[in-house]
Amino acid sequence: MRILILGSAAGGGFPQWNCNCPVCQAARANDGRARARTQSSIAASADGERWALFNASPDLRQQINENPALHPRTGTRHSPISSVVLTNADVDHVAGLLTLRERQPLSLYASDRVHGALEANPIFGVLNPDFVARRPLPLGTAQEIHDRDGTGIGLSVEAFTVPGKVALYLEDESAGADANFGTREGDTIGLCVRQRDSDAAFFYIPGCAALTPPLAARLKGAQLVLFDGTLHEDEEMVSGGLSPKTGQRMGHISISGPNGSIAAFAGLGVQRRMFIHINNSNPVLLEQSPERAAVERGGWEIAMDGQEIEI
Ligand code: MLT
Ligand code: MN
Ligand code: ZN
Repeated sequence: MRILILGSAAGGGFPQWNCNCPVCQAARANDGRARARTQSSIAASADGERWALFNASPDLRQQINENPALHPRTGTRHSPISSVVLTNADVDHVAGLLTLRERQPLSLYASDRVHGALEANPIFGVLNPDFVARRPLPLGTAQEIHDRDGTGIGLSVEAFTVPGKVALYLEDESAGADANFGTREGDTIGLCVRQRDSDAAFFYIPGCAALTPPLAARLKGAQLVLFDGTLHEDEEMVSGGLSPKTGQRMGHISISGPNGSIAAFAGLGVQRRMFIHINNSNPVLLEQSPERAAVERGGWEIAMDGQEIEI
């Protein structure tokens, strides 16, 4: 299986248009301290011919242009992208669907909650139902990914609930923090993607608020996990003067600290672990930073746009 990291940054990308934090400044300086990144999405393929996108970021047009595997190959209209699978309804994961609107056959997989969010917004009607099949993604069972016409592309996907939060624009403030602002099952999912007739499998979990015991058990011994690397510290955006919100308030576990992801993964025996969906405030984006060195010492990689992984 081939996996392409299309975009390794969180919502807003890196640098973010209106952010003047030291990490964004370093990316703009383009002097080797930090490399710019586009927003959160990957692609996978069993045969190198038919690809599934996992999330569709606002930067999808640029990501397709920069990845020849996703360019049209035959006829006058063609795309190797046969399917799109969504992990939540966040802007950084669904806005790219609007880029895929030109009468191209596609299948679109999402939880009932995420399909509901798309159906409630008429702009996604640009995905003409004559061409785009919206298909359910039941929780807890593996199912084959099919193209628009129902032909399998050699990959299966199993979706499972992870702790998280409903998309920012769907938060119900009146429900309050105790009800997690109206979050329901299916608002944030993780995915296990497997190749047919092969042992190749990986987990893609770009948003996750905590590594619960059942989630840890599921990931134990995995070949490859691409995991939520939004923030290095829970208070990072507050102390940086960027936002009043902690990582927990946004539905993201932080990398460091006793409750962080590095600590939570220790002992799980995951063979390869990569942080993805990295916020522009995160000092691990600075290649010479002590935070970056500590993450790498902990056995983690920091995903980069354009990176290809073969498993
Ligand atoms: C998130 O990952 O928390 C969201 O993408 C935030 C947002 O929608 O701006
Ligand atoms: Mn996001
Ligand atoms: Zn910034």
